[in-house]
Amino acid sequence: MNGLQLMGAARALPSRCVTNQQLSQQVDTTDEWVRTRTGIGQRYFCTKEESAVTLAAQAAQKALLASGVLPQQIGCVVCATLSSNKATPSMACQLQQLLGLPEEIPTLDVNAACSGFLYGVVTAAGLLESCGGEYALVVGAEQLSKLLDMTDRSTCVLFGDGAGAAVFKPDSGESLAPVLGCRGSDAIWAEAVGPVPSRIRMDGKAVFRFAVETVPWCVNKTLQKACLTLDQVDWVICHQANARILDHCIKKLQAPGEKFYQNIEFTGNTSAASIPILLGEMWEKGLLSPGQRLLCVGFGAGLTWAGLTLRVGQGKKGEKDNETAE
Ligand code: ACO
Repeated sequence: MNGLQLMGAARALPSRCVTNQQLSQQVDTTDEWVRTRTGIGQRYFCTKEESAVTLAAQAAQKALLASGVLPQQIGCVVCATLSSNKATPSMACQLQQLLGLPEEIPTLDVNAACSGFLYGVVTAAGLLESCGGEYALVVGAEQLSKLLDMTDRSTCVLFGDGAGAAVFKPDSGESLAPVLGCRGSDAIWAEAVGPVPSRIRMDGKAVFRFAVETVPWCVNKTLQKACLTLDQVDWVICHQANARILDHCIKKLQAPGEKFYQNIEFTGNTSAASIPILLGEMWEKGLLSPGQRLLCVGFGAGLTWAGLTLRVGQGKKGEKDNETAE
């Protein structure tokens, strides 16, 4: 499969920041417990005026600006989410309207939980190849706060809200090397949208074991498929679920930790938004330069996993418009 170049990325975080300290006034927990077990120090929760869709629209708008690509040049829109405001129309269809994107392009949502953004990137690559189109807009956006049971301290401290978006163009000189998979399990689950509010439940230990086994395997499998070694990769962009999981994976891979960009301390686990939020933050900070090679790895409910490689293209790096709520 042809590769994709990352032309621009951006993130949007809600305006309400909740520290562990603030959470501990509502939930029987401590800053020390959450930090040492997960690496999380704070997360953002949507206010009444904000939702996964409003954040998605902000992030997408800023990603378009960062890439220098016009809305009318977008050839497909894929949104990854498990917490959209409506079952239908999809988040992607809502973005088409909000951003004035072209009508005659494929526009859809995917749900592969925390692997969702990467499933979305592979979907977008296939859509550009089969339907034509110059650029793809791929968004990951979540409002997980509305799915949290604030009486379950083992899950409610982990998650946050946010959105990230990226603009891609096909790159025939590179391989996407997609590695996607699923092992059907309800180790993490939430009910379908219904009259009773849905709540995230999780077997934390089972997920931990799954992640430390799957992430290193997925990194190696993706490298093998792309005919690359880790030395040839500039950054590993891994889903931010838990800093301890990442530490285990880095050790297992005997990889240089500084290649694994991390921000979980500031955002918590934002599921499908986590990888594009990382990309957006790195873009804003000027950490991504043309020609760099990225290896992205996600894992999550399903249980799902995803790995792929990307090249950084020539967007408008470091635009002032990319400033966020943080
Ligand atoms: N504050 C204080 N104490 C807590 C909290 C909390 N927030 N949560 C649980 N505890 C207590 C438990 O009640 C238990 O107490 P007990 O021994 O008196 O019964 C004790 O801490 C240990 O609980 P465990 O569940 O065994 O804690 P563990 O060390 O496994 O850590 C955690 C829990 C952090 C969830 C861990 O299992 C983990 O990181 N799992 C990976 C899952 C993950 O990161 N998921 C992210 C979402 S899924 C995804 O993104 C793919």
